Amino acid sequence: MRTVEHTRQGEVAQVLTLREEPRRPAPGPGPGRGEVLVRLLVRPVHPGDLVGVEGMPGQPELESEQQPEQQPEARIPGVEGMGVVESVGTDVHAPRPGQRVAVFPAPGTWSDFVVVPAALAVPVPDGVSDETAALMLVNPLTLRMLYRALEDALRGRKGPVLQTAAGSSVGRLVSAAADRHGLELINLVRSTSGAEKVRTLHPSQPVIATCDDDWQGQVRRHAGERGVQVVLDSVGGAITLELSGLLADGGTLVSYGQLGSGTTPLEALRLVARGLTVRGVSILHWMNRTAEERAQDVAFAQDLAQSSPDLLQVAGSYDLADFKAAVEHARRPAKSGTVLLTTPLTADSVQGAAR
Ligand SMILES: NC(=O)c1ccc[n+]([C@@H]2O[C@H](COP(=O)([O-])OP(=O)(O)OC[C@H]3O[C@@H](n4cnc5c(N)ncnc54)[C@H](OP(=O)(O)O)[C@@H]3O)[C@@H](O)[C@H]2O)c1
Repeated sequence: MRTVEHTRQGEVAQVLTLREEPRRPAPGPGPGRGEVLVRLLVRPVHPGDLVGVEGMPGQPELESEQQPEQQPEARIPGVEGMGVVESVGTDVHAPRPGQRVAVFPAPGTWSDFVVVPAALAVPVPDGVSDETAALMLVNPLTLRMLYRALEDALRGRKGPVLQTAAGSSVGRLVSAAADRHGLELINLVRSTSGAEKVRTLHPSQPVIATCDDDWQGQVRRHAGERGVQVVLDSVGGAITLELSGLLADGGTLVSYGQLGSGTTPLEALRLVARGLTVRGVSILHWMNRTAEERAQDVAFAQDLAQSSPDLLQVAGSYDLADFKAAVEHARRPAKSGTVLLTTPLTADSVQGAAR
């Protein structure tokens, strides 16, 4: 059994290590009541996973509950993945051993095994590849949360809406949803080549590169005199001030990521004078939604994986042991899609799942 772990926050190459144990899975009681043990085959490298390892600049390290004299507790990155149910605890009627499932939220998926509540092990629809299944939950569920925030902010209007990092995996889902719903979306990317890629995928949507000196003027020409109603922003930092300047009075900035650097003081946004709203959206709050809403979201994700696997693009695949190369790829500029970490399915694992 292999596990990628860290005992302190810091640069990935310095703090993450691979622990290998001869036997599978780690000694312990196995899945408890209502839980399943999943033999993971594929898990993504999400930007949020790396924030968990490295921390946010300027923010304190994750709190630890142990005493100073104790060995620091090891943390395993990853919240999403797919695999095969190895065994189930008492009172679990579904999923069954041997079934393919996608898991989220499942802290610690950068390991060969994870234990999750049975309700969070989602059956992978027939015909969906393991790679697509590994990307089926986090980003599609984030899209659902963003879209809800968008609808709240638009109050029946169709836009215009501006999104940053439009070439990202989440950005591509937003663009596809805009095409589907007739949303007036303006896409921002940081490079001319990135703009070309988004333009090819969504020819009817304006795409503007922030490397152009007059990018804000270009946004204004597309949005009209009033400005945009909503900004969906995953870049943040220094660009926040310029984005807020593109909002119509009464508009909303939805912040859901921090790819950029620098900071913008809250006071600079003129929230009061312009009646602006700033709203944060995080997949970490998805479990706070009602069971019915979560079931609808999961059904949406399963349908998307079946009908539009091209929207869950894979940038590259690496064995779990090659996590450092995978992280380097995940951070490479101009990549398209998400990097995956894989575990080969061995004869032993097939027998294990059949037990
Ligand atoms: N709040 C949530 O719950 C949630 C959930 C999922 C994702 N997210 C966030 O959503 C964002 C995108 O995630 P993802 O998985 O879709 O990412 P991804 O597929 O890895 O794509 C990252 C994209 O960001 C662009 N980029 C990187 N640094 C940038 C910068 N400084 N300024 C502008 N663009 C930059 C890259 O463009 P180039 O082509 O120019 O290199 C690339 O298109 C991340 O911030 C992530 O944390 C948030």
